[in-house]
Amino acid sequence: MPELKIAPSILASDFSRLGEEIKAVIDAGADWIHVDVMDGHFTPNITIGPPVVAALRPHCSVPMDVHLMISDPDAYIEDFANAGADIISFHIEAATHPHRVISKIKDCGCKAGIVLNPGTSQDDIEFVIDAVDMVLVMTVNPGFGGQKFIPEMVRKIQYVRAMLGDRDLEVDGGIDGTTAQAVIEAGANVLVAGSYIYGSDSYLDAIESLRNADR
Ligand code: DX5
Ligand code: ZN
Repeated sequence: MPELKIAPSILASDFSRLGEEIKAVIDAGADWIHVDVMDGHFTPNITIGPPVVAALRPHCSVPMDVHLMISDPDAYIEDFANAGADIISFHIEAATHPHRVISKIKDCGCKAGIVLNPGTSQDDIEFVIDAVDMVLVMTVNPGFGGQKFIPEMVRKIQYVRAMLGDRDLEVDGGIDGTTAQAVIEAGANVLVAGSYIYGSDSYLDAIESLRNADR
């Protein structure tokens, strides 16, 4: 199993102080910073785009993990790579030619991740999984922070771990001290958490409790 990593989602942070909020979780031990990009088409919500990622890049001393929840990922890969993304993940449901998107991400010098909505089977990525660096299993439906973890996803995490070998398997949505234990045991090694970390009194304690959830 690859190394456990904690990736706070800035979606739950104070947007008026994004740079400080990023630095605060890095000081508290965050391994990656997770950036949720929503376009109002693929998701009901709209969040941030490449100019904000570029503005945050100097405030971020760890890898920027950019999660594209957008309808036409192919069209925006270069913009997010130029803005400073290190890892770019896109939804299989949104891509007409997923191999082409993966190649573009890698040609831009980034790591490529593919994302499954809760309703999408792991079978849908069978023929692209060899090309990716990471799979992200959504444990809520994309669109908002603070939603409830969908327990059926534990089984999907087990299936995807068996397909992935020792590459990164990320989970996103409703991750807290309790659900973290279940997903780590199922095979996840990158935990995204928004409201659990940014909603806590101590970012340090929240990150530590996720890191030690399976002990
Ligand atoms: C959901 C986003 C998540 C979200 C997680 O659409 O992809 O990254 O911010 O938030 P929590 O941890 O609050 O469920
Ligand atoms: Zn996300």
